[in-house]
Amino acid sequence: MICMIDLRSDTVTQPTEAMKAAMVAAPLGDDVLGDDPTILLLQQRCAELFGKDAACFVPSGSMANQSAIRAQTSPGDEIICHRDSHVYCYEAGAWAALSGCSIALLDGPRGQFEPEDVAAAIQADDHHFATSRLLVVENTQNRGGGAVWPLRRIEAVTAEARKHGLRCHLDGARIWNASAASGVSLAEYARHFDTVSACFSKGLGCPVGSIICSDADTIHRVHRARKMLGGAMRQSGILAAAALYALDHHRDRLVDDHAHARRIAESLAGIDGVSIDPDAVETNIIYFDVQADAATVVELVESHGIRMLDSGPHTIRAVTSLAVDDSDMDVVCESLPKVLACR
Ligand SMILES: Cc1ncc(COP(=O)(O)O)c(C=O)c1O
Repeated sequence: MICMIDLRSDTVTQPTEAMKAAMVAAPLGDDVLGDDPTILLLQQRCAELFGKDAACFVPSGSMANQSAIRAQTSPGDEIICHRDSHVYCYEAGAWAALSGCSIALLDGPRGQFEPEDVAAAIQADDHHFATSRLLVVENTQNRGGGAVWPLRRIEAVTAEARKHGLRCHLDGARIWNASAASGVSLAEYARHFDTVSACFSKGLGCPVGSIICSDADTIHRVHRARKMLGGAMRQSGILAAAALYALDHHRDRLVDDHAHARRIAESLAGIDGVSIDPDAVETNIIYFDVQADAATVVELVESHGIRMLDSGPHTIRAVTSLAVDDSDMDVVCESLPKVLACR
């Protein structure tokens, strides 16, 4: 059997032995009754890290985003976000199904947009139209190639939204990567938003879990939304323990994932029929185009022990994480030019 190097996503990581030991050792309670000490500790720690009053642990990034939307909108409201955002593309239309909202989509390179785009999307205060209520920014931007939003642009788009009375949500599933790459603190990013979500089950390597941070009133509403969505759990401190472990041990190493992604991008750059700009690889996500059919190329690469995802007819995605190490990178960077040259 070939040993697979898994570059499909940073969600494929397995908990390490040390993380599992931390999970087993965690004191537990009943989080629905509000007394799981490890959940309480994680929520307090995250609130502090993001400079907010309070936090709420949820099972997934999608539930984090959708609880934040549910807590800050009413049916008939409109959300503004990028066309490539996870909230719009990959959460099963939950903004409409669960919160009764419509959505206004913005365009722009690498999943980003400008304050003028926000201004143009705001509905007039007229009874014919939906009420513009919430701006969503994704940082890093997954479909934007793991791009990091410049702080200046975040300041500008959120200021524009606030001028029109909108609230602002940050889908920070990979905010850890943004912060590691830019040196901007989590609290500095979060300062511009009413709610921030962040995932533990991506680059931080936990099996499950996300957090939402905000002011106390909003977190009170998020708690209700979480319950409604079926995401209130009991001895969930066992999951929070993994997250606490990851905050202490897996944040510093994210820059290694970024260096690995850059190495892969550079090894792809010289291959005939492959198009990629290595300078556009800022964090742990690599998108590249192939002339051939992407699904066929992914199958071929997999037969050589490297797993990636086709994400369009001619587009392939690879993501680095703690599931892969330096020696895996040696194999990947040696194999890809050979395999792709003979496709
Ligand atoms: C930017 C972003 N937000 C949210 C999510 C949702 O996370 P989950 O898969 O835990 O629901 C993802 C998952 O890949 C993501 O990339």
